[in-house]
Amino acid sequence: MVKMKELSNKIRNAPKSKIRELFDLAAGRSDVISLGIGQPDFSTPQAAIEGNINALKENITYYAPTKGIPELLQQLESKLKSVNNIKTAWKDNIIIANGGSQALSLAFASIFNSGDEIIISSPNFISYFYLSAFFGLRVIEIERKNDFSPDITKIKESITDKTKAILINSPNNPTGYSLTTKELREIVEIVKAHDLYLISDEVYENYLYDDSKHTSPASLKDMFERTITINAMSKLYSATGFRIGYVAANKDIIDTMEKYHQYTVAGTNHAAQYGFLEALKIDISFFDEILKSFDERRLLAYTRLTELGFEVIKPKGAFYIMPKINEFGLTGAEFSKRIMKNQAVAIVPGNIFGSYSEYMLRMSYATKLEKLEEAMNRIEKFVKTL
Ligand SMILES: Cc1ncc(COP(=O)(O)O)c(C=O)c1O
Repeated sequence: MVKMKELSNKIRNAPKSKIRELFDLAAGRSDVISLGIGQPDFSTPQAAIEGNINALKENITYYAPTKGIPELLQQLESKLKSVNNIKTAWKDNIIIANGGSQALSLAFASIFNSGDEIIISSPNFISYFYLSAFFGLRVIEIERKNDFSPDITKIKESITDKTKAILINSPNNPTGYSLTTKELREIVEIVKAHDLYLISDEVYENYLYDDSKHTSPASLKDMFERTITINAMSKLYSATGFRIGYVAANKDIIDTMEKYHQYTVAGTNHAAQYGFLEALKIDISFFDEILKSFDERRLLAYTRLTELGFEVIKPKGAFYIMPKINEFGLTGAEFSKRIMKNQAVAIVPGNIFGSYSEYMLRMSYATKLEKLEEAMNRIEKFVKTL
């Protein structure tokens, strides 16, 4: 091969994903039950699909306005007010993105300069670590407490003059943790006291169990100016392939994002925005039955794993459970490789979610109850061999 000049260091040196390896092992095997996927398994509401199709039939196949179509921005202004208690002006404070993922990229692109520090509780969603690497940030990874709550004292102690932002994701992927109002308020106080930004990834806001409640930090006193609220169509409407998400933030931030958006992606799928618009008009009670079914799965996963001897924190939100496996004497990576080979269950090793989860696994319970039950039976067979 011809020797070429080197490729992007920032990207090549970013931590490597182990998920690929796992799914390569699963490729072509029909017997595999996957607990790996972060994708709800119910059907996308028909209204969303029709909204998208009708837009295409009306030949809406040309560029959308960079920040998104006005009808959708207006609908989101009203959703943010009624659901999240966040007051926005749609023309200034909202931008549509290509999924929650790109909404996150916009957040990183708009506030950070190389060398800035970002504080993240760990374990946490994998993309935060990659984005930080791509944007030249130093990640200050604060280990979560044993019950996966944030270590607020350590967060406070880790602030330096380079700290630019704290990132929170509640309810959380991968731990299933959901912040209490008290914890959120403590984090908000740190943000205000040190003149920081708060990136709040709220894509799982609807997936909450027992008595957990979601509070958007941007709704708290003096926090709208400091908060970048990230959300998406993906999880609530089981529409991960629509690739529609959004950001709410102050005007300076949104204007900066608009510039980046313009010159990197030009905008977001035009017709799909009409799909999201129609989805937002559906009464939210459509989700009641779905949440009930997720709750059953959560309890099944929690009970079975506990009985099998895993140390498990009962998830309060999202659709993931993160058992600790120290007692089995294997790392998460070894466990997931071996259970895939021996029992055909795909489970993500904990180490991809940060530096403190080598002896953990992440399982998604966004799968039918019968399959989940069968997966638990296979896990039981596997752990008996250890
Ligand atoms: C915490 C978190 N944020 C953002 C995303 C990205 O969402 P989207 O599929 O809308 O890009 C995900 C997807 O799994 C997630 O778990």
